[in-house]
Amino acid sequence: MTSFATQSVRPVRIDNHHSVRVSTPVISFDQARELAREFGTPTLVVSRSTLARTYQTMKAELPNVEMFYAAKANSDVSILRPLFLEGSSVDVCSYRELQSALLAGFKPDQMIHTHPCKTIQNLMDCYNEGIRWFTVDCTGEIDKVARYTPDVNVILRLAAASSSSLINLSAKFGCDPTDAPALAAEAGRKGLSVRCLSFHVGSQCLNPEDFRTMLTRARQAWDACVAAGAPLEVLDIGGGFPAPYRTGVMSLSDYCRHLSAALDATFGDLPIRIIAEPGRGMCAEAVTLITRVVGKSVRGGLPWFFLDEGIYGSFSGKLFDYSDFELFAEAADMRPRSACVVAGPTCDSHDVVSTDQELPELEVGELLLVPTMGAYTSASASGFNGLDIARVVEID
Ligand SMILES: Cc1ncc(COP(=O)(O)O)c(C=O)c1O
Repeated sequence: MTSFATQSVRPVRIDNHHSVRVSTPVISFDQARELAREFGTPTLVVSRSTLARTYQTMKAELPNVEMFYAAKANSDVSILRPLFLEGSSVDVCSYRELQSALLAGFKPDQMIHTHPCKTIQNLMDCYNEGIRWFTVDCTGEIDKVARYTPDVNVILRLAAASSSSLINLSAKFGCDPTDAPALAAEAGRKGLSVRCLSFHVGSQCLNPEDFRTMLTRARQAWDACVAAGAPLEVLDIGGGFPAPYRTGVMSLSDYCRHLSAALDATFGDLPIRIIAEPGRGMCAEAVTLITRVVGKSVRGGLPWFFLDEGIYGSFSGKLFDYSDFELFAEAADMRPRSACVVAGPTCDSHDVVSTDQELPELEVGELLLVPTMGAYTSASASGFNGLDIARVVEID
């Protein structure tokens, strides 16, 4: 394991009310050169101290909320282990995510399973390893859980509408909150204990006030479910905490403070456990990609630069997650910049990383840094064209 000091985060203000955070590499170009010499490129650099800082900030601002890191964002042990050491719990969706979590040190009683539509194999494998919290959102899933794992604690997922989220996570899953009491009662009749209500406001939720809107709906559903006989004791507020890409986002502290106030206003009178499942907000900023320019040409009057990483690799987040990654060239402010196309290494014409960022005239062999590469990047990378998936290197 290599150790390098991490760069400090640039503090920026965009309005009079909230400080914002911008996309910032966790290493300098000098450090990147050293790492590239030792490990080659493309390499994803995981900063353990950035992960720890993010976890600690969330806990400081949301002291009554237990964090269940959403392993789907990045289930690499280099991410899971530092979060385990900080005291996080974990949200898994599959047996393989569970296995990664075990490898990182988590015990099954620190895990919840949040997939609302599981295969029976997935359900049984995770149950047999010891997970006892499983999610449902419809009659079919209630039947499945009641038949195969009737002694578990059930999480009933509500659909959530959010105007500021980049990705709607309720198009596919989550029951209408007004249907929740009937579903909870049905689960009860089938011998299940619905102990938790959950929702997800949508990923990359830019406005924390969207949580307040959903929390108000969740409180109505909560009261109605309790009246219908559900033994509710946990509220799960899901993920959605945003990360900075080419556009900055509200500072994590400010964001969590809004959320904390909304929780107090909506559920503050209830003596319940509150948990969250942050994925992106926890891990995205802790990882920076080092990629190398491997070729260049001029096409249609524009410079094209070809990298050794593209949308079939860590930039897959551009496709599946709509992430707009910022490309950092060394001393870019001191070199003339112009419009250009930056493409990935595969034979696919679709493998283009950027068409709207102005960059200096890059040289073959030059390194680029791409921050905010921790969430939904390597998790969805493939080895298409026989190319290697980026290696992962941890730093302090
Ligand atoms: C059930 C569930 N929980 C948590 C997450 C993590 O969300 P985010 O990365 O926006 O925090 C997701 C993302 O898909 C999810 O589906």
